[in-house]
This record gives sequence, C-alpha cells and structure tokens, in this order.
Amino acid sequence: MRRSLSVVAALALAGVAVVVVAPQPAAALENGLARTPPMGFNNWNTTGCTSAFNEALVLGVADTFVSTGLKDVGYQYVNIDDCWALPSRDGNGNLVPDPVRFPHGIKYVADYVHSKGLKFGIYSSAGTKTCNVNGFPGGLNHEQQDANLWASWGVDYLKYDNCNNQDVDALTRYKAMRDALANTGRPIVYSICEWGRTGPPKVWEWGADVGNLWRTTGDISDNWSSMIGKVHTNDDLAQFAGPGHWNDPDMLEVGNGGMTATEYRTHVSLWAVMAAPLLIGSDIRSASSTTLSILKNTDVIGVDQDPLGRQGTIVSASGGLVVYSKALANGDRAVVLLNENTTAATVSTTASAVGIGGSSTYTLKDLWSKATSTTTGTISASVPAHGVVMYRVARGGANANRHEAEAATISQGVVESNHLNFSGTGFVNGDNVAGSYVEFAVDAASAGTALLSIGYANGTTTNRPADISVNGTVVVAGSVFTSTGNWDTWAVTALAARFSAGTNTVRITATTAGGNPNLDYLDAVLSAPSPVVYQAEGCTVSQGVVEANHLGYTGIGFVNTDNVVGSFVECGVWAWVPGTTTVAIRFANATTANRPMDLTVNGALVATPAFAPTANWDTWSTTSVTVTLTAGANRIRLTSTTVNGGPNLDKLTVG
Ligand code: GLA
Repeated sequence: MRRSLSVVAALALAGVAVVVVAPQPAAALENGLARTPPMGFNNWNTTGCTSAFNEALVLGVADTFVSTGLKDVGYQYVNIDDCWALPSRDGNGNLVPDPVRFPHGIKYVADYVHSKGLKFGIYSSAGTKTCNVNGFPGGLNHEQQDANLWASWGVDYLKYDNCNNQDVDALTRYKAMRDALANTGRPIVYSICEWGRTGPPKVWEWGADVGNLWRTTGDISDNWSSMIGKVHTNDDLAQFAGPGHWNDPDMLEVGNGGMTATEYRTHVSLWAVMAAPLLIGSDIRSASSTTLSILKNTDVIGVDQDPLGRQGTIVSASGGLVVYSKALANGDRAVVLLNENTTAATVSTTASAVGIGGSSTYTLKDLWSKATSTTTGTISASVPAHGVVMYRVARGGANANRHEAEAATISQGVVESNHLNFSGTGFVNGDNVAGSYVEFAVDAASAGTALLSIGYANGTTTNRPADISVNGTVVVAGSVFTSTGNWDTWAVTALAARFSAGTNTVRITATTAGGNPNLDYLDAVLSAPSPVVYQAEGCTVSQGVVEANHLGYTGIGFVNTDNVVGSFVECGVWAWVPGTTTVAIRFANATTANRPMDLTVNGALVATPAFAPTANWDTWSTTSVTVTLTAGANRIRLTSTTVNGGPNLDKLTVG
C-alpha cells in the first residue's frame, strides 16, 4: 500500500496545506503539481544534440536514479531536451521521434522510466522550430495536437522553449500550451523556458498563472562566472516563487567538469536556498563519488524542498561576501555564507539579521561538514574561495518548538511506540472513525503568525484527510495526509495560521472513517517570517529604467521612474495571513521639490507619501506606511502624481 516516501511526495502535501491558508489568485495555474521545486535529470548540459543523446542514456539514467539512491533522496523526473524528434512532422502532422536516437519510440522510454517509479519529461519550443539547428518543429499553432501526443505517451513534464517564436506575444504562446496540456487531462508539470527575455510584464510576473516554473535567465554554462551570473539574476525574484510556481535559474552542471568540487557545492547550495529546481545535467551513469555526494546531500535537498516553499533572499552583500537566508517550515532558517572572491574570507552575520531572533542560544548545523555548534547569535565562518558555508539555524536546542502528540489531548485513540523513527516517546494512533482528534495546546507570548509543522505517518494507500483548526476555526479543511509508504516513514505537512497571545489550541480532526494518520508531533514557531525585501528593480516598472549609477542602493540597482504623471512601480507582495503590516520605502530625491506618489494596495489608495528631498542621489531615506494585506498575493503600487515623476526607488521592505 505504501508508495515509498519521496521527499517530493511528503512536501507536496505540505504545500497543499499552505495554499489552502493563503490561496493563489483565481487565475493561477493550480494544476496541483510541483508543490516543491522539481528534482530530476535533463540531458542538455551533458549531451546537447550529439549522438550521446539517445535511448541508452535515458534508460541508463533511470536505472542510475535507482541504483545510486538518487531516487530515494527525491530525484524523480527523467527529462529529455531538444533533438528527440525528426525535422519534419508526419503526414498527420504529428511529431516523429528520431528513429536513430529512439529506435523504440518515446512511449517505450516513458514506460521504462515509469516502471522504475520515476516520471518522464519532454521538450519543445513555443515557436515554429526548436532552438538547435538540428531540432524539430515547435508547438506554435500545434499546441493541442502535440500535447495530446505527449499525453498518449505518458509524459509528466514539459519544458517549453522560446526559439523561433515569430514575435508572437509570449503570454499568448505559453497560455496556449498551458490550456492544451490541461485539456489532455493528464497531470503535466509545465516548465516555461522563456529566459526572462520579453516584457514587461516579465515572465516571473505572469508565470504563476501559466506554468509551474519559468526560466529567469539565459543558458547556464559549466563555469563559475556563468553559474554565479544566473544566481545574481535569480536571487532578486524571491517574491514570485512559491508552491507550484518557481523561478528557474537553469539546470545543474555538477559533474560536468568545468568547476571544482567547492564550486559545485556552492552551485547546489545556492540553488537550494533559492528553492530552484534541481535537475541534474551530467551523465550520472559515470558519476564520481564526489559528484554523487554533492547531489545526494539530504540536508541541502531538504532546504530546497522545504514545504514552506519560500525562496531565500539576500540579507547582506558586500565585497563579494553574501549572506542568504531562507525561512523553513519548522521555523528554522537556512543560511548560506557565500564567498565570491578568489581567496578565502570570513563571512559574518547574526541570527536576528537572518530572521530568527528571539532566543538566547541557537543551534547551527553545517549542512556540508555535518558539524553542529551553538551560538548566542553570531553566525560566522571562514569560507573558501568560490565557496559557501551553509547552515541550518534553529532556536535553542533541538526541538525547542516541539509538542509531542503523546502529550496532547486525544479524543479516541492510543499512544503507541511500535513503529520506527518517531520523535519523543511515541505517537498517537487515533481510532479509525470520523471525528477522532488530537489537540495540542501551544502558548504564545504575543499574537502573530505561527508556522505549524505536523509530523505524521500513513501506512495505508488511502489518504487520511483531516480538518486542522486553530482556536476552534478550521484553517485547513481536509488536509489530505497522503500515504507515506509504511508506518515507519514519517512526513511533515506545514501551514501558517494566526495565533493569539496566550494558549492556542491546534486540533487535527479526522474527517473520514479511516481516522487520522499516526500523529507524531506539532512544531509551532511563533514568528512571522522576518521582513521581506522587494527590490524595486524586481517589480513591474510602467515607465522608467533600472539604473546603478548612484551609490548606496541595495540589490542590483534602483528604479528611475519617468518624469510623468502616472509612471508606477508595482510589487507583488505575498502575505501568509491577512492583517496590517508596514511597508518601508527606500528612496532618493536629489531635487528640491517633493516627489509625491500614490501608494495603492490591490488597487485601493492607502497613502500619498511625499518623498521629500534627500540632498543628493547617493543619499537614501525611508518612509513607512501601514497597509492591510489579504492572505496570498497582493499588489503594492507606487504611482507618481506630478510631472516630476517619483523619486529613485530602491526597495520595499514589508513586515
Ligand atoms: C535553449 C534552452 C536550453 C536548451 C536548448 C536546446 O537554448 O534555453 O535550455 O533547451 O534551447 O536547443
């Protein structure tokens, strides 16, 4: 009855829970897929269109996923790229697999991949031809026919490129394939490969409505400067990523030989902290032990696949020493200390700077060396050239936020310890009836957002849905609690909810006759994710340019809006729970006149900040406005109301 627990499966469930709390806009894709960033393989970075791209490679990769344990740590999709088809369609207009590369056709390959418990992905372009000179006819105006063909073969993932697009609007082209895939009725992860090329609006602004992930950059190459360049483009776009919709800075190069092991560790660490897809791009049939150890680091994968689904952001950056922080579902933070220089350097930050203040001690786990240490707040390490030190930072000692189910209130059921790997002294096996519940009591020093993680096992093949309520109000109806494969295998589902000051109750109530899954613990972290920075240059700019010709800005530049009434900058801002919060706007105004703008939230006027002179363009000032956000996606827009336009805008800090 069990499917073996994959990291992806466990996190998918958690992602669903989060989405229920903070729904996507109605137009969002909502195909239920890619609740965590996709993991798998794509041949492009190792073979391109050479003859090495063939059936033996793809079958061998599937075998290697199983034999090396890559499958067990979450790698799932075996994807093929350009050049799988002949240059012409057949008499019926269908694409034709290249009979030399794929003598048994593509369905045969998909069936083989599926027989290994893996999923299969394919490639095309939203144009008249794919990208490579040896490519094949693209999907433009053939969307439904091609989607139907792929669905008939059992395709689970489509990478849809941007070449030969005949200048047809990107949104139109990518929506056409979205709808064609949906019409097939087959769940197919939809990977938009538009490279962040067109717009505004940029693909990251419309991508969540259309696909599950979207390339934010041009093609990666197997060298340090290419890899770190992709990072710099992608790391400003965190607000657009979340369960089901991810920024994609391109596939991994680990194992292709152009970077050192240190650089490849940096590559994977940065992809993980950015919640990027982990698609292996080397020939893993002959992977070295070093390559496998880099790709199979489950602590690092756990950061990438964390169920909260947040993309990490830059906390500080100076002289090539950069600190990233990513909020995790259990309240921990993943922190990457990056040294972009060619000599070793010390990189330092603090627990509160990375967003996990409020404790007297913290535990640091080094996710590469596996060493654990404690600190009262300083996070500092000597970092090798082109290297990282990557920590998981937790408040206090281990499990400081944990509430064991065996100590909770149990309506009907028993505490047991007859399975492996549980936390504490046991777990709750609730009676198999609708209405049986476990209720946790959690004290909160103050009202705020709580991040809740529930540890469970479901050794059946049937979902065990439950309502999760906080203080008597259902916050997630029918959280599915899917199979974890067996009763010794535990998974985590995560959600965010509003807590009151004082004692809060979190009740998990079975809604079907199957009862609850076995429940192990509730981790409750009373802390909204720390303020989130939205760089103006990552937002939508109606009229204006991104510049970097003055001092003191953060991110990669600032927005110089056109000097006209109505020029605006609009940022998509995510809120886990509804409520009031603060938006701090950092700006410079070297003129002697105010540069007023209207600040609207979701279209409603909230404030009219004056943006008074700051003396010169290198001097930045901050104005704060209180706003009310709805759960989920919000639009904060600053619109100039005079012919002088707005000030130069550096960033919005929300929270
Ligand atoms: C484009 C894409 C690459 C790859 C090639 C194939 O360049 O961005 O990732 O798919 O096409 O031709």
